[in-house]
Formats: sequence, C-alpha cells, structure tokens
Amino acid sequence: MACVVIVGSQWGDEGKGKVVDLLTEGARGIVRFQGGNNAGHTLVVGEDKFIFHLIPSGILHQGKACYIGNGVVIDPQVLLQEMDKLDKRGMPVGPEKLRISDRAHVIMPYHQALDLAREKAKGKQAIGTTGRGIGPCYEDKAARVGVRMIDLLEPEVLRAKIEANVKEKNFWLTEYFSEEPLDAAQIYDQYLEYGNILRDYVGDVPAELKELLDDGENLLFEGAQGIHLDIDHGTYPYVTSSNPVSGSVSSGAGVGITKVNDVLGIVKAYTTRVGGGPFPTELEDDTGAWLRDKGQEFGSTTGRPRRCGWLDTVVVRRSVMLAGITGLCVTKLDVLTGLDTLKICTIYQTPEGEEMDSIPASLERLGACRPVYEELPGWKEDISGARSLDDLPETCRAYLDRLTELCGAPLTMVSVGPGREQTIVLENPFD
Ligand code: GDP
Ligand code: IMO
Ligand code: MG
Repeated sequence: MACVVIVGSQWGDEGKGKVVDLLTEGARGIVRFQGGNNAGHTLVVGEDKFIFHLIPSGILHQGKACYIGNGVVIDPQVLLQEMDKLDKRGMPVGPEKLRISDRAHVIMPYHQALDLAREKAKGKQAIGTTGRGIGPCYEDKAARVGVRMIDLLEPEVLRAKIEANVKEKNFWLTEYFSEEPLDAAQIYDQYLEYGNILRDYVGDVPAELKELLDDGENLLFEGAQGIHLDIDHGTYPYVTSSNPVSGSVSSGAGVGITKVNDVLGIVKAYTTRVGGGPFPTELEDDTGAWLRDKGQEFGSTTGRPRRCGWLDTVVVRRSVMLAGITGLCVTKLDVLTGLDTLKICTIYQTPEGEEMDSIPASLERLGACRPVYEELPGWKEDISGARSLDDLPETCRAYLDRLTELCGAPLTMVSVGPGREQTIVLENPFD
C-alpha cells in the first residue's frame, strides 16, 4: 500500500496531468482533492489529446477508479460534459469508475455570475480568475451556506438552499454590481436534474478509499493548480481559493496524512503563470515570447496566453518546504532546447542589497526584490527522444543537476515531451 501525492510546485500548469496519467499504472485509485474546473490537465496518448478539468487524469486507464474528493468544487454541467466527451470517444464513465464525494460543494450559476461581476468591477486590480465561480463557491462553503452533492439528492433541502442563496446573491448582483438577477426556480429544476443523473456516482469517498487501503491498494492523489496559488501560502490575493499543498489531501479527500508516503513536486523547467500577480523572473521580451511559442503556453482552461520566465528556484524551494516534496519531476525540458544560455534564479536581492531566500508576505516587498541569476550553457540537440539521463547532452544534465541542487529534493522523473512515453523515469514511487 502506498499513497503518492502529485503537486504543482510553481503557479500551475507544470504538467501534473501527464505525470498522473503516467503513474496511474501503479495505482488502483486516483483522487482529486481540491480545486475545480479552473484546472486544465492535458494528456497526450499517441495521436490523441485529452484535457480534463474535473475528472482525475487516471480515467483513461482500465481497471482503475477515479475519485472526486470533498475538497473539490464541482460544476455538474462541466462534469457531465467531460463524461459525455469520453463516452463519445468510446470510453464510457460509469459509477464504478468515477466516484464523487457526497460532501463536495457544487458550483452554482450565482457563483460564476459573482466571480465575473467581481472581476469586472476590480478593473486593473482583477485577479485574472478563470471565471468559473471557484472563489464564490469556496466562500459559501466557509460561510456554511453552500450546496453539497448530497443536497442535489434531497429535493426539499436543495430548494430551500437555492431560494435563500439566490435571494441574497441577487441582491449583490443587481444592487451592487448592476448585473441581471438569476431565477431560483430555473436553477432548482436544473440542479435537481443533475442530481438525478449523478445519483449513482455519489458516495462516501473516504470510506471507499479506506477499503482500498485496507486491501493493500495504492492511491495516487492529483493536485490542481500550483503551491504558489495556494490561498494560504501563495501570492495572496493573486491566488485560487483552495489549498494545493499536499496537506490538503487529508482535509480534501479524507485520507489521514500518516498514510502519505511520497509527495512528487512537478517543476516546469522554466516558469509560467496565468492571470495577475507577482512573477519575479517574468520575461516580457523576445525570450518570453519564444518560450510561450515553443512551449505552447496557452491556458488549457481559458486559452489565455501564459506569462513566461526563467526558472525560479526560490519558488520551488519554498514548495519543497511547504509540501514536504520528496521527489522532483522536471517537465518541458525539451522546450529549452535551442537557447544559447539559460538563466536560473538562485535567490532574491532586496532593495537594500541583501540576499533573501524567501517570498515575503508583502507583495510590495516582493515587487521590490530582484531575482539573482546564475547563467548556464544551453544545448541544441533534440532531446525529445531521450529515455535515460545518458541520452541527454552534458549541458542539459548540468542544468538538471543544478536545478535539483538548488531546489533541495532528489530528481525522480524528467519529461521531454507531452507524450506518455517521452519520460525518463529515475524512480517510480510505486515500485
Ligand atoms: P497541468 O495543469 O499541470 O496538468 O498542465 P497543463 O496540461 O495545463 O499544461 C502542461 C502542457 O504541457 C500540456 O499541454 C502538456 O501536454 C504539455 N507537456 C507536459 N509535459 C511536457 C513536456 O515534457 N514537454 C512538452 N513539450 N510539453 C509537455
Ligand atoms: P491547473 O490545475 C494555472 C489561476 C487563475 C488566476 C487564479 C485564480 O491546470 O494547474 P480561480 O479561477 O482559481 O479563482 O483563479 O488562479 N489558476 C490557474 N493557473 N493553472 C491552473 O490550474 C489554475 N487554476 C487557477 O489564472 O490567476
Ligand atoms: Mg493546467
């Protein structure tokens, strides 16, 4: 029995989906524990490409069960669309293959309306959310007025919750944001219908996971977003509204932290960020544009161009600390091929000229810091066919060695292309 957690060590889109798909072979259950359809996880299998927002990235494998934990916020319409797409591609998702926590909160139309209205009102101060209603849904959860999956199965509870919520939300939407009101009866009919369709999928996920663990099975936990988007540890307020750190496996899936054996931190070989917020190593020049183009850095969820920059090891080192990362999986190394020199940010320098190996809580202070770089020689050889470290040019290995040394955790995997097979596996956490 082993529990392995996959987390993004930067600002998301590190390639978590690919790694989860790859490691699924060694697990029996694949579990999402936080976030919602703000996530976009891309899997490339042969000529086929799949993007999942809610369904765990293990779904393409036979004989595995995928779980959506209580820490996830679920937009039922998006979930059903994803299931439908898989069905049309000849991979039906039945209730034995996909299990949904009865305690997971549901994203309602007023959450999305409020998310969009707030972002619009913020103007230049906008967070740059995905506009999927994630923040307002988690707000309602914390305010103890949220709708949970179980409520979709209990008509009277659902009706009362929707009526009360719509009354309050319509006040904010119309009086404060000058937006259109929503219709409670219409929402009720629609969500009751979602409940009817999803009824057999809904269950007590922690109890089901315990059964697997008792049978000696392995579990793989799929994080969404990245640790620097964590609501507690990220660059607040430019964060998401959940906890992508590994610790939320316990609160978001109902598996005790003592069960976790390994935490694999996914590190993109450079850095990207979508939406607003600080990004010390951002490149707003030709090199940044080159990385975006070569790495196809456009959001899997919103299609927005991702901001690109050099690898920031202050960011990753902090993630190693915050998430207890036991191994690093470096992705998109192939994208760096062709550059004469590469830069790695080793530390920040304060305006007073002092070295700083942390990310200050004050965004003003962070904005005033400048990244200190080390330069390393690049490589020109195509590395997308590499299947062992020996297949990599010397300068490429030197980059990996320095990255690993600076980030402070051992290297377990290197990804050199989007395909499943384009991976150098040094250590499989399930072996
Ligand atoms: P996630 O949100 O962390 O799962 O990452 P995304 O799927 O949003 O973004 C990662 C993108 O990079 C996807 O398009 C992947 O297919 C692609 N990708 C993953 N690993 C590699 C790699 O090693 N090389 C290249 N070129 N692309 C990769
Ligand atoms: P995956 O799982 C990258 C970003 C948004 C925005 C901020 C808040 O694919 O790595 P939200 O809609 O969550 O309230 O937006 O968080 N964001 C992501 N960026 N990858 C993601 O997920 C993200 N999920 C949210 O761009 O800046
Ligand atoms: Mg993504």
